[in-house]
Amino acid sequence: MSSLAELDLLLLEPAPVLALAPMQDVTDLPFWKLMTRYGGADLYYTEYFRVTPSSGLDKPILASITKNPTGRPVIAQMIGNDIPSLVRTARELQSHPIAAIDLNLGCPAPVVYRKCAGGGLLRDLPRIDSILGALRDAISGKFTVKTRLGFDDEDAIEALLPLFAKHSIDLVTVHGRTVLQMYRGGIRHDLIRMASESLACPVLANGNVSTPSEAQSVLRVTGARGLMIGRGAVRNPWIFSQIREHLAGKALTLPTGRDVLTYIHELYEAVCDLGIPDPKGVQKIKKYANFIGEGISPEFLHAVRRISTKADFFNLCREHLDHDRPMQLDPKIIWNSGTQEMRPNDAEVNSLKE
Ligand SMILES: Cc1cc2nc3c(=O)[nH]c(=O)nc-3n(C[C@H](O)[C@H](O)[C@H](O)COP(=O)(O)O)c2cc1C
Repeated sequence: MSSLAELDLLLLEPAPVLALAPMQDVTDLPFWKLMTRYGGADLYYTEYFRVTPSSGLDKPILASITKNPTGRPVIAQMIGNDIPSLVRTARELQSHPIAAIDLNLGCPAPVVYRKCAGGGLLRDLPRIDSILGALRDAISGKFTVKTRLGFDDEDAIEALLPLFAKHSIDLVTVHGRTVLQMYRGGIRHDLIRMASESLACPVLANGNVSTPSEAQSVLRVTGARGLMIGRGAVRNPWIFSQIREHLAGKALTLPTGRDVLTYIHELYEAVCDLGIPDPKGVQKIKKYANFIGEGISPEFLHAVRRISTKADFFNLCREHLDHDRPMQLDPKIIWNSGTQEMRPNDAEVNSLKE
């Protein structure tokens, strides 16, 4: 079956579509492979292909398409603003087994948005109009968009939606924040609902889904066809299975501390044990541990940020996770019970690289 047909079938199913969010340097091929052992998502987005006049297809990202280990449809994401280059890249990508091509309209990294790419494009609607028109003509299969609400104004989404409709976008993911909000502030579920109601195509709701009950309420409140989950899935790789259980009215299977410890060992082997010695290996696992730690405890998070060797890292993990108690891995629980001073500050949150 072609990847295109797989996406059609997925969208025909009554169950909400659960997608793993693209996260640069995080949700790569080894991470996808690991996710499938934990139940996995229904749909996977690649990290973004950077598109410029001199770009080629990034080989490790391309491998996640050509060696797709998930058995599920894959959407290839592009970021850029140069129309001939985007069209050329879209044509190249279509010779590979992808379910759709996605355009990034949300990346909030200043180095990206200042060049008017990613979230920066949201300041220039006529340019988005031209890019969407050119890509729609160049893409014979499905063409999707992942957007924030606007650059600095949440209500800007109202002017964006007609552009998505005009160019017959096949699926839109809405991260319910503006670019300038980065990862701060609540998600505007009402505006995601507006997108779901006004667009003919399916909409995926994105932002801060961390638990199965939140997933259920976001689906209800937004009316979205599905969810895209990023940090919540890195923190809790069981989340997609838990959401399916919860929506089916079954009792939740919660991991124990030791299950989480095993996950962290497997994660290290998958993404770091490629002969990467300390401190690079430990730096890489810390990227994931920053997200996982938010589901463990403020003390773990505080300590892990200061660790510089693999041995210290695993000692810390054992100290916090060598137990049989069930874990919710919900950041709201730990921040409500923990020390507020240990919460990541704005600089730490904003330094999250996209
Ligand atoms: C480290 C990191 C890397 C990201 N890389 C990408 C990316 O390549 N493409 C993209 O569209 N969004 C990217 N995002 C945004 C996520 O896909 C997602 O929209 C965001 O994290 C909010 O969802 P969440 O709360 O479920 O994590 C990235 C986010 C983070 C934290």
